[in-house]
Amino acid sequence: MSLKIIGTGKGIPEKRVTNHDLAGFLDTNDEWIVSRTGIKSRNVCSHETLTDLAAAAALQALDKSGLRPEDIDLIICSTIGGDYRTPSLACCVSNSIGASCPAFDVNAACTGFIYALEIASGFLADEKTDNILIVCAEMMSKHMDWTDRNTCVLFGDGAAACTVTKGNALKYIDLSASADVSLLQVPSGTGNSPFVDEKKEYGFLNMQGQEVFKFAVNVVESGVKQALDKLNVSAEQIDLFLLHQANKRIVDSVRRALGQPEEKFPLNIAHYGNLSSASIPLLLFEMLEEDKIKPGDTLFMSAFGAGLTAGSCVMVWE
Ligand code: UT7
Repeated sequence: MSLKIIGTGKGIPEKRVTNHDLAGFLDTNDEWIVSRTGIKSRNVCSHETLTDLAAAAALQALDKSGLRPEDIDLIICSTIGGDYRTPSLACCVSNSIGASCPAFDVNAACTGFIYALEIASGFLADEKTDNILIVCAEMMSKHMDWTDRNTCVLFGDGAAACTVTKGNALKYIDLSASADVSLLQVPSGTGNSPFVDEKKEYGFLNMQGQEVFKFAVNVVESGVKQALDKLNVSAEQIDLFLLHQANKRIVDSVRRALGQPEEKFPLNIAHYGNLSSASIPLLLFEMLEEDKIKPGDTLFMSAFGAGLTAGSCVMVWE
């Protein structure tokens, strides 16, 4: 079963932190961050919970699609960590917006949106499921060591949502997870069990940036080629490439390899930083708000993240 997206929404925390703000307490500077990543500022939670952001995005997506919470048959949240280890963020969103359908989280790191689309398409094949709410929400600020300039400058907090229903927009989807868990991780610790042999504390995000960079460029480039081959289309026939916003240099590198113009590769990393799984749906929301996506347009989406996971899909907008 394929699907189509019928509404999108966003939830962004109020507090905006510029590179100059970071340079006030870290050994970093605007020039380094902009030239190495393309990031100028990011928004971070101060008084908001992740549920607040996710619910705001969800309600906007419902509103734009003309659906009420009771019309939703399933809620899938993508997050690397909600407000609680349990209940799931999806249950928190359901509670907040007044839904009563099944709800669960998926954790595929930054690739979570593409994973959620594949899961949604499976559920929509069942006749009892008509409308699914996908919410990608990340509070990266709580996973960062704010004394580590290698990582904390890169990420931001935010949520983006979409409602999906039965349709034929999704033409191709491919997911993978290569088993290298050491390159990017947030250790969860062992708690205070008296029985554990080696006690480990909850840790902050650590990443081997250059290795992940190389993986990202390779996996996105090969993902595009595989999709084009499978659908028998050329890069010229793709109207927009909505790529995970981890680093502007990764997007530029893929664009150059494909020989395609800049306007086909929209960016929002300058204002939000890396929002993990919320990056692509937020970009989609913005493109729709700016009327830059029309029915019949062909979109390629691709993401990668901890795992290392990767995923790409092609949609012809309905
Ligand atoms: O979405 C999840 C997936 N994540 C990613 O895709 C991230 C992929 N990786 C990257 O985007 C890049 O590798 C980074 C942006 C993380 C790093 O860029 P880089 O060009 O690979 O820099 P580097 O790690 O090689 O560091 C170069 C130098 C180092 O100094 P030395 O050792 O050469 O003296 C770093 O200590 O830059 C230094 N540095 C900084 N300097 C100022 C690292 N972070 C900063 C900083 N400000 N914030």
